[in-house]
Amino acid sequence: MKLLVCGGAGFIGSNFVRLRLAETDDQIVVLDKLTYAGRRENLADLEGNSNYLGLVHGAIEDAEAVAQAAAGVDAIVNFAAETHVDRSIAEPDAFVVTNGQGTYTLLEHARANDLRYVQVSTDEVYGSIDEGSFTEESPLKPSSPYSATKTGADLLVESYFHTFGLPTSIARGSNNYGPFQYPEKLIPLMILNALHGDPLPVYGDGMQVRNWLFVEDFGRGIGHVLDHGVPGEVYNCGGPDECPNIDVVNRIIELTGASTDLIDYVTDRPGHDRRYSLSSAKLEGLGWKARTHFLEGLELTVNWYRENATWWESIRSGDYREYYERQYGRSLGS
Ligand code: NAD
Ligand code: DAU
Repeated sequence: MKLLVCGGAGFIGSNFVRLRLAETDDQIVVLDKLTYAGRRENLADLEGNSNYLGLVHGAIEDAEAVAQAAAGVDAIVNFAAETHVDRSIAEPDAFVVTNGQGTYTLLEHARANDLRYVQVSTDEVYGSIDEGSFTEESPLKPSSPYSATKTGADLLVESYFHTFGLPTSIARGSNNYGPFQYPEKLIPLMILNALHGDPLPVYGDGMQVRNWLFVEDFGRGIGHVLDHGVPGEVYNCGGPDECPNIDVVNRIIELTGASTDLIDYVTDRPGHDRRYSLSSAKLEGLGWKARTHFLEGLELTVNWYRENATWWESIRSGDYREYYERQYGRSLGS
């Protein structure tokens, strides 16, 4: 198959491209706008792989860029999105454009060219759950501008199946972690702050629970949906373990040798979802299973950040510092 991977220079997209090239004979072209979260260096090790056809720099809401990148492909896998909940609270505009208009533009291209289409989505479309786990039949109840735009995109994808018969599928993942994650998200932020002796900003009481999924497990799950998913269907893809944020932070402190004195309880995120939990029984019925447990994956991740300082140094010394100051009201150390 020849695939167009949108958002392939981001965290999950770049891990997916690497995995897919290693485990299949697919050819892959990437379309990416290279926002703050998209980085050419995330794909640098793939240059020279003859099945990696390169990166087209462009936006998914730009129909011409999509047509150029998608020439001759059999399927589109869409990772491209604005993805950080805190940024969607501060400045929602880009979320509406990319997650809404962008998804629409890709669907129109897929419809005009009879392409298979897989949308990468999130457990946040279901909102928060106190007990039990969300199934694909659970009602959609997004809380943040991020999750609302992702929900809108999912509904649009489903409408293209029902109305036009486009062979779409949706893969909804729980919280990912692993190599190449931009350090605005909980785990890489805490790892880098701990390594630098910066305060560790825990929102609210730190007892919010996330259902952690190692990024390679999500990559295989999305591949499974692409290869074996039934058109028109949604598949949840959840991690094997749940963990309160404060336990995640304490484990990172142990792994980095930082001091617990760095923990800093700060004002809670507005509209903060308390707990996410996904049932993945439907995707497991197709033969997928998460392989990596959280404690093992977290250690791998801490080691990756320790060993890849050149990757994060350029981020931590650039625009990220201004973002951090706006979001946390304090500067990062050096
Ligand atoms: P990311 O922020 O690391 O990467 C997003 C990528 O999309 C970047 O490369 C960025 O440059 C690109 N992009 C943004 N706007 C674009 C546009 N208009 N046109 C083209 N490219 C654009 O995000 P991620 O964490 O890798 O998430 C990837 C996908 O997975 C998203 O759709 C997200 O909603 C979903 N998801 C993420 C998680 C998670 O825990 N991170 C969990 C479940 C689902
Ligand atoms: O659940 C899947 C979603 O996971 C994806 O769809 C999103 O794209 C991704 O960003 C992620 O959303 P979260 O809001 O759950 O992830 P984040 O890493 O921002 O936060 C995880 C938890 O940690 C959440 O309860 C908020 C808390 N947190 C986060 C940051 C950045 C803190 O306590 N302090 C922080 O500084």
